Amino acid sequence: MGDRAPVLDEERSVAIPAAARSGAPRSGAGVRAGRGAGPASARPPGDRAGRGALPVPRGVPPRRATRPVPGQLPLPLEALPVLPLEPEWQGRPRLWGHAYHPMCSYLASFPAALAHGFVARYTRPGDVVLDPFSGRGTTPLQACAEGRIGVGNDLSPLAHLLTAAKVEPPTARALEARLAALRIAWSREAPAWDDRAAGLAGGGEPVPPDVALAFHPRTLGQVLFVRSSLRLADPADRFLAAAVAGILHGRRPGYLSGVMPNVFSMPPRYVRAYAARTGFRPPERELFALLAAKLHRLARDGRPSAPGIALFGDARDAGARARAALRGRALPDRVRLVLASPPYLRVVRYGSANWLRAWFLGFSAAAIDASLDAHRRGPYAAFLREVLAGLRPVLADDAVVALVLGDVDADGGRPTADGLPIGLADEVWESAARPEGYLLAGVVRDEVAAARKVTKLWGAEAGRATQVERILVLAVSEVGRRRAIAGAAVPVDWRWPPRR
Ligand SMILES: C[S@@+](CC[C@H](N)C(=O)[O-])C[C@H]1O[C@@H](n2cnc3c(N)ncnc32)[C@H](O)[C@@H]1O
Repeated sequence: MGDRAPVLDEERSVAIPAAARSGAPRSGAGVRAGRGAGPASARPPGDRAGRGALPVPRGVPPRRATRPVPGQLPLPLEALPVLPLEPEWQGRPRLWGHAYHPMCSYLASFPAALAHGFVARYTRPGDVVLDPFSGRGTTPLQACAEGRIGVGNDLSPLAHLLTAAKVEPPTARALEARLAALRIAWSREAPAWDDRAAGLAGGGEPVPPDVALAFHPRTLGQVLFVRSSLRLADPADRFLAAAVAGILHGRRPGYLSGVMPNVFSMPPRYVRAYAARTGFRPPERELFALLAAKLHRLARDGRPSAPGIALFGDARDAGARARAALRGRALPDRVRLVLASPPYLRVVRYGSANWLRAWFLGFSAAAIDASLDAHRRGPYAAFLREVLAGLRPVLADDAVVALVLGDVDADGGRPTADGLPIGLADEVWESAARPEGYLLAGVVRDEVAAARKVTKLWGAEAGRATQVERILVLAVSEVGRRRAIAGAAVPVDWRWPPRR
């Protein structure tokens, strides 16, 4: 994805390491089985976009073949039209964008510069931008930072918390006051929490052994204190919780535990094996000092200039909930841009991949994994079709919808049987967007060099990562489709922070 240098930085967007992936079968199998057999292959080439009125500016080489369907010969598949929108986000510095973006690492997030490439082209200040799969909130935060109303939705409470911390942040004064109150309370209560961390005092929720293993006892006392003190419905507390989650673990001295990297939580059995093998002794880290440093970094750009909304729920009814929330705040209630990266075929287990952060925030990692299961049970395209159907009522007539979809060249970590990449963009267009009446403006190809991927760190897994992301750009009217095509050529100002 986007600007991903090979050096491990502890606060970054990353590709999906094997240890964080679901072992479940890919949900796309059922989707693929229908490709090439339906009406798409019978249509004239010019009708691929469901249109044919506007010239397609740039072509792509024909695809080799469809994936064979049992009982059928492989059929040639038309190429989707290319939208000539240069993926200039690739050349941006890694931490390009608002300082809140790297608040907490999150697997499979895209770079803020990618969000800017669409927000700047397809919206004006005051417009509403929606991401129904907001993850750590990249799209809505960047939208808010550019004066748009950013709305994020996610079904994971962790993602919701991270999005809310960024788009509904506290004032600097409220944050300062809350931090001061916490420090005072800590100075009073420290001995009791130290005893609890050292296992000398009972009472309260027992500390899971894998959590105790990760922290120095005095650091653990502070972590337990902050964990029990923060009330996540309060904006200041939520911001502090997200910031602590961001420094909870990482291999550098700025993190509270060095037992695992920052990007995701190693499975507990790996952590135990690592600790046993290396004789790991958690170094003592002072939570309030590290948190103050983190808050200082986060404060660089101030609060985003426009208000945002973080919603918690299923993407399939995100449109209706977004509209109700916008109306409830007397904000414009039609979305001009949707920019989202739906969960990939090779599904990340967002709960277990974040089990230590989930514990800190009081969420159940298993419950997160179970709740996100919905998109894995049914065919992927059927799920996205429901999502796109649910978005229709909230979209402005000239709205642009951009879906970031990976081409994956491996199936659950193994090469596919026929060696062909699995093009999600084709699947989603044919089986989800087109049947819902969307129009296709084109596909943006975002090459992701393997060398830039964090999966490099995982040795043999490096070559199995997504090599290409394709961004399916859709509209709901001819006006929107023309706007999407014309906007591709609009030059974008890449200065950050933007000149006023
Ligand atoms: C690829 S990540 C999105 C990352 C995001 N673009 C970012 O930059 O942080 C996909 C997200 O979809 C969420 N998700 C999975 N199934 C969902 C569903 N049924 N409804 C809403 N969100 C869902 C996951 O929790 C995850 O945060």
